[in-house]
Amino acid sequence: MPGIYDEPELYEAACAYRDVPCEVDALLRWSGQHGNPDPGRPRSVLELAAGPAEHSRELARRGLDATTLDLSAAMCARAGELAAADATRLTVVQADMRDFSLSRQFDLAITMLNSLCHLLTLDDLLRHLASVARHLAPGSLYIAELAHPADFFGAERRTSSEWSSEVDGGTVRVRWGGGSDEIDPITQITREHVSVTYRKRGGAVRTVTDVVPNRFWTATELTAAIRLAGGFAVAASYGDFGADTPVEAADAWRMILVLRREAGTSGG
Ligand SMILES: C[S@@+](CC[C@H](N)C(=O)[O-])C[C@H]1O[C@@H](n2cnc3c(N)ncnc32)[C@H](O)[C@@H]1O
Repeated sequence: MPGIYDEPELYEAACAYRDVPCEVDALLRWSGQHGNPDPGRPRSVLELAAGPAEHSRELARRGLDATTLDLSAAMCARAGELAAADATRLTVVQADMRDFSLSRQFDLAITMLNSLCHLLTLDDLLRHLASVARHLAPGSLYIAELAHPADFFGAERRTSSEWSSEVDGGTVRVRWGGGSDEIDPITQITREHVSVTYRKRGGAVRTVTDVVPNRFWTATELTAAIRLAGGFAVAASYGDFGADTPVEAADAWRMILVLRREAGTSGG
């Protein structure tokens, strides 16, 4: 049975609620603020677990040399097709973000939309951080967007697990986790039940259902793993893309870590 990541068109429709240009504005703003020693515009970007590569294609359109990496053959094919369709230059690599080697370095690395939840163990996270560190020169940034811990610890979730939106004249209805899906108290993994129904303009309807494992990483676990892995310092953390909202703010709804590659430290 194909899962949601084998169905890029449905995945894209499910995630079409995002304002990708606004999120890319924030990535470039933070690069200018926190990149060191040469703050300013990064010239190259590596997007991990990129799926259809919305953010790296937008960065490529803004002139960056963009490379996108994903485990799913279907997602890689889709990223390549979408880039070709609007003549955007994009290098697509099918690989595992837990351990990869691309034989070059980048000015910026990004992982969007809580894709780090697919690193299920501390060993996975440490290998991932070491791989990313090997691909960044000192002073370059790694920006990772994760779910806000209040979704797990707060009295009320800050994001919804069910939503619907209008997409290209059609409608998409999504359930992603929530409901009776329970986090395993030992592994911190939730087997999230996913259902995406896309009614396209013209009437064709498709539904994909899946069960996707999601590892919840707390803020302090991430800080500890970053220290243990070596190679990075936490330069900043934010709770939103639109304004530079602190991750601690009551209205923060994402946990966005800005990591700076440190000179003379390990990390691979
Ligand atoms: C929630 S989607 C996010 C896609 C994209 N970052 C975005 O913002 O739309 C998660 C992606 O992670 C990919 N993925 C899962 N495990 C992976 C791994 N070990 N290495 C690389 N990609 C992985 C999936 O194929 C999927 O495309």
